[in-house]
Order: sequence, then structure tokens, then C-alpha cells
Amino acid sequence: MCGIIGYIGNEQAQPILLEGLKQLEYRGYDSAGIATLIKGSVSVRKEKGKIAALEKLLDKKPLKGTIGLGHTRWATHGIPNQSNAHPHVDCHGDIAVVHNGIVENYEELKEKLMQEGHRFNSATDTEVIAHLIEKFYKDDLEAAVRAAIREIKGSFALGVISAKYPDTIIGIRYASPLVIGLGKGENFIASDITAVLKHTKDIIFLEDNEMVIMNKDSVKITTIGGRPVQRDAVKINWDISQAQKSGYPHFMLKEIAEQPTVVESILNHRVSQGKESVYFEELKIQEDVLSKIENINIVACGTAYHAGLCGKYILEELVKIPVAVDVSSEFRYRNPILGKNALTISISQSGETADTLASMREAKRLGATILSIVNVLGSTVTRESDGIIYTHAGPEIGVASTKAYTAQLCILYLFAIYMGMLKGAVSQQKVKELLSQMQQLPQIIAKLLADQKVILKVSKEQHNKKCFLYLGRNINFPNALEGALKLKEISYIHAEGYASGEMKHGPIALIDKDMPVVCIATASSVYDKMTSNIQEIKSRSGIVISIATEGDERIKHHSDYVIYIPPVNELFSPIPVAVCLQLIAYYIAVKNNRDVDQPRNLAKSVTVE
Ligand code: F6R
Repeated sequence: MCGIIGYIGNEQAQPILLEGLKQLEYRGYDSAGIATLIKGSVSVRKEKGKIAALEKLLDKKPLKGTIGLGHTRWATHGIPNQSNAHPHVDCHGDIAVVHNGIVENYEELKEKLMQEGHRFNSATDTEVIAHLIEKFYKDDLEAAVRAAIREIKGSFALGVISAKYPDTIIGIRYASPLVIGLGKGENFIASDITAVLKHTKDIIFLEDNEMVIMNKDSVKITTIGGRPVQRDAVKINWDISQAQKSGYPHFMLKEIAEQPTVVESILNHRVSQGKESVYFEELKIQEDVLSKIENINIVACGTAYHAGLCGKYILEELVKIPVAVDVSSEFRYRNPILGKNALTISISQSGETADTLASMREAKRLGATILSIVNVLGSTVTRESDGIIYTHAGPEIGVASTKAYTAQLCILYLFAIYMGMLKGAVSQQKVKELLSQMQQLPQIIAKLLADQKVILKVSKEQHNKKCFLYLGRNINFPNALEGALKLKEISYIHAEGYASGEMKHGPIALIDKDMPVVCIATASSVYDKMTSNIQEIKSRSGIVISIATEGDERIKHHSDYVIYIPPVNELFSPIPVAVCLQLIAYYIAVKNNRDVDQPRNLAKSVTVE
């Protein structure tokens, strides 16, 4: 939450910072600001609202200077307004600070600083940092920053500039992400790599408790305590075009459309030519450890949690060991009991979700081996895991997760096949059969994407409904939850996902002529049960939107709309079904003129509890 960018070099900083902020806007978008240094003084421009509002202000009042910091905010302390926007400065306006995270003890620090004569201009926790640096400054900025940090409790990534140091940026990482981008005659700090990809692919990932002191030609990394740190840069193979809309009206639509390529690339990288084995080169957990695993628990939030729920069906089917799934924020606060030889799988697109990190730490404390399924390279989750499997879905910018979800599902299938082989739960012939079926998925998704007529009709005719119900059974039950989440987060229409079998235990009371019900009724072992539910909805005048398998003509008799997916093994059906659900949500949100990529109140990476 909140995005930070810093630039030092020979170019004008303003356009570089603005460009970087646009890439980071998914992290928060209630206000934004930049500060630059010119002729020995700090100048700040900030504005309530999105980057576009800041850009307008800068058109009228541009900032010069070849060093600066930028910030896009997701409010925690203090309402989203201009004075609470970052950067924040000290009493003399000489020190500017941008911050991502929370200063937990800011109230007591603020009170003390005010008693000492410091004057505050905002209601944020961040402003205390600027005043603390001012307080401790005695001709050494680095020392003052270290002293200030010693006073702070909480999680933070910081960028600091000072009028007295016109060629220095200091960046600090403590439990919130910060990367260093290395250029030629220029250097960057940023909350994530997408913000600097246009300028460099050479990235250094700061670890917790580290700081960077950079000028345009050099970068010095130390611990916050001052011990020098040697760290090599990593070459990132992401392309800037992956972080741009490339002609699509929204990132979300672009990311939905990328799914055939994402799935294909996962399969190409992870499956052997002869379809008899699966590779996870970065897994690191030894096979003999994995083969002894007796139970699995999955922790994740939001969409990643739904992937985890689906993972339970997949893993129990193929590995034949018990799997429990928890929302991270629940797992960390109950007293979970992990059996002997437990494997905890954390699933996270960003790799920075605070609750998921906390639940991994709790699982580790309880003795589990931690495996993480993550998209963002070098993220905190990857550093705290015993093993990692990257989804390699490329940057996901739309706040609503789409391609990361299908990539997570793909990895769960492949990991289940791998574990099933290790534990002797699936035969070699079965592995070959499953991996061959998976190879069909990219074409199946591409076919779906090529014909969106029914989905467009649904969105045109149903977008003004107040509430939607989503029903699914068995392995597609998690998709019912995911379909409802997608719709509510981007269209602001209330939606509930239910296991179809539960319909008679409550939700059926909601059904009337104004209630659209999305029914996942693809060919499966539970198809007949699902069609019975559909008839129950129809006989109560509900609007039935069925997702069914091509060739199923019968379902038309009981449905108002039928969205067909190509035939696919029931086990793999969640992937094409998810794509249909994403498109339904997308087009309904567009019809309602919603801000699809940046829905209100949300942020892509939830780094606070
Ligand atoms: C929904 C969505 C969120 C995330 C959740 C977890 O579309 O994107 O529900 O899935 O915040 O985020 P990660 O996967 O980054 O841990």
C-alpha cells in the first residue's frame, strides 16, 4: 500500500517520478505528491486524488531538479486530502520524506516532538519521521536518519532527501518493500520494479533492516545499524510493455487476455517434453522432506485464498493427504494445530500481504515447512519461505486479480502432480494423461476469449441489478466465491458466492425475478445436482446465467443465458470457468462506468493488517 519512487541522475526528475508513480498507482490512489531539490531547497507539490490530479497541478506549477521523491498514497492515518499527501517535510522544509507502512508509536512521538517545539502540518504518522530526522540532524544526514529510525515502531519503507545534501537519496526498508534500480549516471528507489523498468532492468532487492545511500553514480547499502552490505543486482526479464495497457482500455482486460500465454508459458517451463515430469527449479525444499509431508495447510487472502480453496480439492485428489485452507488473518489469530510433518503453502500475488506473512511466520514457529506460490520476484514472502514456486505471470497492475489467479491454479495442479508422484499417489500413466490435458488449457481459454457474445449480452441486460448470487459445487465452489468477489470489488454490486448444496439452507429465500444467479454447471460428477439447483432457481423466477460445457443443449431449457466453455476434464475446469467469471465482472463494471483498474477503497498490495 502506497507507492514510493526516488530518482537521482542527470535528467529532470519530475517526468520520471510522475511516470513511475503511474506504474505504482495500483498500490494506492487517494492522493499523490513529489518533492525535488533545486538550488539548495526542497520544493513540494501534492494533490488529493489520483496521479492525474497531481499531473494537472504540475502542468501549472512544474518542478525543476534532477533529484526527487514521489509518492502515491493509500490512507491509513489521516483522511485523504492535500495536507496528508506525501512528501512530508520538517519544520524548515529542508527534509522531505515519503513513507509506505505504519508508524505505530507516532502519537507519543508526535506529542514529544510538539513539546520540543516542532510544528506539524498533517494528521499523518509519516510526518513524525521528517521531524525526527530534523531533531537528530547534526551535520550528518545518514546518522540522523539512523537515529530517527531507532525511535520508530512499525513497518516502513522510506525515501529521504535533504536540501543540505543535493546529491543524495536515502532509502530504508523495514517490513515494507523497497528496490534499488541501477542506471548509468542515474539511480532509483521504488516500491516495486515496474516503476523503474522503463529505465533499468538491473535491480537490487533491499532486505529488511537495510538502507541505501545513493548518488547518481554510486549506491552504498548498509544495515540500519551501519554494517556494510554486499548485494549483487538481479537482471529482471520483465518487459515494460507487460506493465502497460498496450491498446487495451483497462489493465484488467489486458491481463484477462494474457491468460492463454501465461498458462502456456507456465507449462512450457515446468513440464518435461514427454509430459512425464514437472520441474520447480527454485523450489529448494528437498524431495525427501516433501515425500514425508503428512498434511498441508494453505494460507492466503482474497483471490489467492480462493485459489487455495481450489488447491484443497486438487491436492486431496492427487496427493491423497489432508489439506486445510485458512484466510491468513484468521489463521494467525486462532491457535492452529499443524500435524506432524506439516507443509504450509502460502499463496500471494504480491508477496507482501501483511496477514499472509504473519501466518507464514506463525506456521514456521509451529514447525511447518513453508512453501510459497508467489508472483512478484524478490518479494518479502519469497525471503521468508523454505521454498518458492514463482507463478511468473508478469506484472499484474489491475487491482482485481485475474491472471495471477489462473497462474496460481496452474501451479497448484503441477505441484499436486509432483507431490502425487513423490508420494506414489498417482501413476506415471495418470501423470502423462493429466499433463497432456493441461496442454489444452491455453487453446481452451483462447477460444473462450474469442467469443464473448453471451457475456456481453448478460452485462448489457443485467448490469443494473442490485445483487447477484454465484453458485458452484465441488472443485468449482471456490470459483463461485471468486466470481462474487470479482463482481463486488469492481462493480460495487453486492454479490455472494455459495456452495450450491447450501442454497436450500438460506440463500434460496433471496431468489426472485430481480436476482441473477450465476450457476457453474460444467460437465462434472456433480452436474445433475447442479441442474436440480438451477431448476429450483428457475421455478422461483430467478434469472439463471449458466456456465456449461459445449454440447449441453438441455441446460438451455432452464437458463436465461448459457455461456459455454469447451470440453475439459472436470479437475481443470476451474481455469476456463474463472475466465468467464472475470469477463462477466469486467463488462458489468464497465457498463456501470466503474473505475475497473482502481476500484474505490482498495489497493493492490495490502501491506497493513
Ligand atoms: C481480489 C484481489 C485481492 C488479493 C488479496 C491478496 O481481486 O486482488 O483479494 O487477492 O489482497 O493479495 P496477494 O495475492 O498479493 O497476497
